[in-house]
Amino acid sequence: MVPVPDVGDITPALRSPRTTRGPRTSAGTHRPPAPPTSVRERPTPEAPDASDLSDTAVALPYVVLSCGMSIDGYLDNPTPQRLLLSNDDDFDRVDAERAASDAILVGAATIRHDDPRLLVRSAARRAERVARGLPASPTKVTLTRRADLDPDARFFAADDAEKLVYCASPALEAARHRVGDRATVVDAGHPCDLRGVWTDLAARGVGRLMVEGGGAVHTQVLAADLADELQLVVAPFFVGSSRATRFVGDAAFPFNEQRRARLAEVRQIGDVVLLRYALSPRFEDPTVTA
Ligand SMILES: NC(=O)c1ccc[n+]([C@@H]2O[C@H](COP(=O)([O-])OP(=O)(O)OC[C@H]3O[C@@H](n4cnc5c(N)ncnc54)[C@H](OP(=O)(O)O)[C@@H]3O)[C@@H](O)[C@H]2O)c1
Repeated sequence: MVPVPDVGDITPALRSPRTTRGPRTSAGTHRPPAPPTSVRERPTPEAPDASDLSDTAVALPYVVLSCGMSIDGYLDNPTPQRLLLSNDDDFDRVDAERAASDAILVGAATIRHDDPRLLVRSAARRAERVARGLPASPTKVTLTRRADLDPDARFFAADDAEKLVYCASPALEAARHRVGDRATVVDAGHPCDLRGVWTDLAARGVGRLMVEGGGAVHTQVLAADLADELQLVVAPFFVGSSRATRFVGDAAFPFNEQRRARLAEVRQIGDVVLLRYALSPRFEDPTVTA
């Protein structure tokens, strides 16, 4: 069994008094009032009590890893140009996943290499979010150790999405200097603890987090058992160069020969295939009705 993330598992260094509840977010969690900018100052999400067991499942965000890869397991090719692995229908599916999320996270290398907007593209989905009292697009989140961030990257554009940069402590001041008022820079510790980042996001009201890569981030999230679901799209071609970025690097993953992940869905979308894996007991299966 995959352990359900539990506030009791949070490292003592990240513990502090409970937060006050704020309004509900798209994923049904509560947005707290004033966010501090260090995960070490961050209050943990409310601990569940017997009268509100639903909060047990939202102590940490529900995390969906989303990724497109080639048949030979690469996220990209070794050229400076971004490799498009998906097709229009699948990009639209990913857009719907974004619209259903409270935040989207990518590693800083993906910002440098791909310069993604990370916005909801569909006008109808944007309008639907706004009608629910949400920003048109989810919060954008990145991780960095070196603060090698370009404030003119589209991640930091003056759009309607909130931006959060989780930065390792030694580069904190550099990061704040680089991005100025374009993003909130949060001290993620040294080394950066992803569970602490998840906890901080939960306290900011993020109930559903979409992790869109790249390989270094996927590797850490999967190895730390911090994902609930993997949506893996396989494109019908090979990259054929080990200089390209793989879906994951070397790590001790919790799913292995002895402990197999549950394949929850296989869906052909034009010339690509979507594989959905349930990685935790919290996995949401839309094909199951109550
Ligand atoms: N096919 C797809 O679905 C897809 C999706 C996204 C990306 N990609 C591709 O993936 C490639 C990029 O992947 P990548 O593996 O090179 O990099 P990445 O995972 O996007 O980002 C790695 C960077 O994130 C920061 N980081 C990661 N873990 C951290 C931690 N625990 N604490 C603090 N900072 C941390 C570091 O940034 P600093 O270096 O700034 O310290 C690190 O260099 C690109 O080629 C891109 O095109 C493909």
